[in-house]
Amino acid sequence: MIAPIFAANWKMNNGPTTAREFMLSFCSQYPRQNDRTIVFFPPALSLHAVAAAMGDRRDILLGVQNVHWEDQGAFTGELSVPLARDAGARLVLVGHSERRHVFGETDEECALKCAAVERGGLTPMLCVGETLDERDAGAAEDTVTRQLRAGLSRMTQLQHRPITIAYEPVWAIGTGRNATPEDAAAMHAVIRAQLDDLCGDRSRATSILYGGSVNPGNAASLLAAPGVNGLLVGGASLDPGTWLAITRA
Ligand code: PGA
Repeated sequence: MIAPIFAANWKMNNGPTTAREFMLSFCSQYPRQNDRTIVFFPPALSLHAVAAAMGDRRDILLGVQNVHWEDQGAFTGELSVPLARDAGARLVLVGHSERRHVFGETDEECALKCAAVERGGLTPMLCVGETLDERDAGAAEDTVTRQLRAGLSRMTQLQHRPITIAYEPVWAIGTGRNATPEDAAAMHAVIRAQLDDLCGDRSRATSILYGGSVNPGNAASLLAAPGVNGLLVGGASLDPGTWLAITRA
């Protein structure tokens, strides 16, 4: 069994001052645990503050919420994989629903980003998920499969290097309406079958997280759903107490 991953996506919240206070509080209450992995995706500007406040907590991993696919150059306002790695990131969120639907990120851009993450030696957390219209039209599996295969299409080491996937139905993100454990399990099985095809044996070591309105009340049942290997949490990860309760699920 894969040790569950609890990932906090802070989005555009928690500047360096708040992030530092959060981490000091969280680390003092969360003892090292070998049976689970904690990941934080703070805003890039807060990465250093989070890393400093964590000290030598190697059991907690850091990531960034987005990268550009080029390694360096004249791309004002962007962030590259080498920059993220130098700042302490180990993971990179790619294709989060807000990147896709608010900023118009395409499958092809997600593919370029995943390839850049692989090239730079970090681990992508590729996010996939259908809209409500797509679900109502019976196209949820097709959408998720398309996003998954397209996003991974430019990676060359799929059978050798770690990746992580987050299934986040768009209609569940920030809405208070989480997928049922049954819905999550059904889509995780679809994703797992695709990973088996794409990654071979490596698929078994690949975590598939569920995200979308996870809170302390539903975390345990979602995590217990077949095929759910972790949780990606937005709003409920912003309060240290709430987040702590979720990491105990
Ligand atoms: P939410 O966000 O937990 O606030 O629904 C999840 C996400 O966007 O990763």
